This record gives sequence, structure tokens and C-alpha cells, in this order.
Amino acid sequence: MINARGVRPRIGVIGGSGLYDLDMLDDVESIELDTPYGSPSGSITIGTLRGTRLAFLPRHGLGHRLSPSEVPARANIYALCELGVRRVFAISAVGGLAERYAPGTLVVPDQIVDRTKGLRPATFFGGGVVAHVSMADPFCQRQREHLIAAAKSAGHTDVIDGATYCCIEGPQFSTRAESHLYRSWGLDIIGMTAVPEAALAREAQLCYAGLALVTDYDCWHENEETVTADMVAQTMRRNVRAAREVLEEAVATLDPSGDCECRHALTGAVLTDPTLIAP
Ligand code: ADE
Repeated sequence: MINARGVRPRIGVIGGSGLYDLDMLDDVESIELDTPYGSPSGSITIGTLRGTRLAFLPRHGLGHRLSPSEVPARANIYALCELGVRRVFAISAVGGLAERYAPGTLVVPDQIVDRTKGLRPATFFGGGVVAHVSMADPFCQRQREHLIAAAKSAGHTDVIDGATYCCIEGPQFSTRAESHLYRSWGLDIIGMTAVPEAALAREAQLCYAGLALVTDYDCWHENEETVTADMVAQTMRRNVRAAREVLEEAVATLDPSGDCECRHALTGAVLTDPTLIAP
């Protein structure tokens, strides 16, 4: 789909808790899309950031009305693809599961452990077409490197490169026993949204990288307060400027045209034999 300005946005940004709009966009238009998977989380804003056209979608909808289990991740990824997006930056609030992931820290995770409860539609396949994409490295490595370089050149030199993101179902936070268990497994940060978004992006052959903003120490830390929704919102408000600065730099310096193995994620992944399907 070509949007009203005639330029397809090649870059998509999915905003998480606390990032519901990008105020640094020019030439903005708002698009409502419907998809075979229902409506996306909200209208998609298309705008220009330092000369690059991008599409922005707040994951939890305007006014944060969708809980993590309700986020229509398939519709969101499908809609971004329809607009022409090839690369996605996904912003999220997370808890820190180790001392070094202090509130305010920026993290570019490289792994995911799925602790959701199987309630979220997690694939575009099925219904007669079987495909198994690789999720060995769930984030696009090249785009991760780009994001880290962008964070550093935006002055956020302490950005953490690599972390395992533990995705829980929510909407409740973890019990203290769970928090200690995840730590004992070596998991680094905890959130509620990377699953199934990252997998769907892979199935859609998009490059996908996450920028996680630590808002709390969950509930394992003896000297820090236990996480509350208020704490997450307040820390996000204080730090969302950092996420915007990194995004601005990352978008402005990204070449969306280059090839990447993410673009070929379905090569060899589809098991269904089209010659055996009756016409
Ligand atoms: N998002 C922000 N902090 C979180 C936490 N401690 N657990 C799950 N999701 C979160």
C-alpha cells in the first residue's frame, strides 16, 4: 500500500508503555487499517524523521487500553508489512533481573525465553500451510548492532548489548519466587510483550530489534522497592526521552534497503508441498 504522501515507510516503530507517540515527526498522517487478523492496536502514524519516512504504532493502543495478552500482534505486524515496512524497532519497558539492569538502563536484548501461557496467537501459519522458521536468534543481529551504535552516538554509551528477555503473560507481575527462579536461570530482563511479536516479525521476514528500557528491579531485590505499575509509568516518563533520542539516531542513519538473512526467513521453512494441494 502506498500512503497518501506517495512514499512507503520502510521503517516501523512499535511503541511500548510510556511511548505512545513520536513528537519529532514531520509531515504526519494517520492511517486506520484492517487486516485478516483484525484491527491493529490503533491507528498508525506515518511521518518523516530527519528525512526518513516511518510508521509508528503504539502497541497498547491510544490511552494504553490493551493489556499484553490483548495486543493484536498478528494484525500489528501484518499492517506494518502492508504499509511497506521492512525493519521494525520495538520499544518496551522491562524489569531488571540483575544488579546491572538498574532502572533507567537501555538494553538491546539478543535472546528471549517464552514464559507466556500459550494464549496469544503466535503464528501466521496453520490452516493448511506448515512452516517452521528459525528462532535461534530471535532479533536481527545487524539491526541490533545498528541500534547499539545509534545509542552510543546519541550519548547513551552505557547501553547494554545483549540480554535474555523473559516474557511473562501478565498482566500481573511475577511472584518473588518466580523472580528468583528467573534469576537462577540466568535471565536478565523481564517484560510482557516480546512474545509473539518477535516470532511474527520473523515469519513476516522483517528485520526486528528491540530497545528495552529498564523501569524497576521486579521484586527480587532486597534493597529496592517491589515493582508497581505506577513505578513503571513514572520511570518511563523520566526516561522516554532517551528512547526517543536513540530512535531518532537509529532511524536517521539506517539504510532500509540492504539485504539481510531475515528477508529470507521462509526459505526452507515451509513444509507444505504445493504440488500435493488439489487445485
Ligand atoms: N515491565 C516493566 N517492568 C516489568 C516487570 N518487572 N515484569 C514484567 N513486565 C515489566
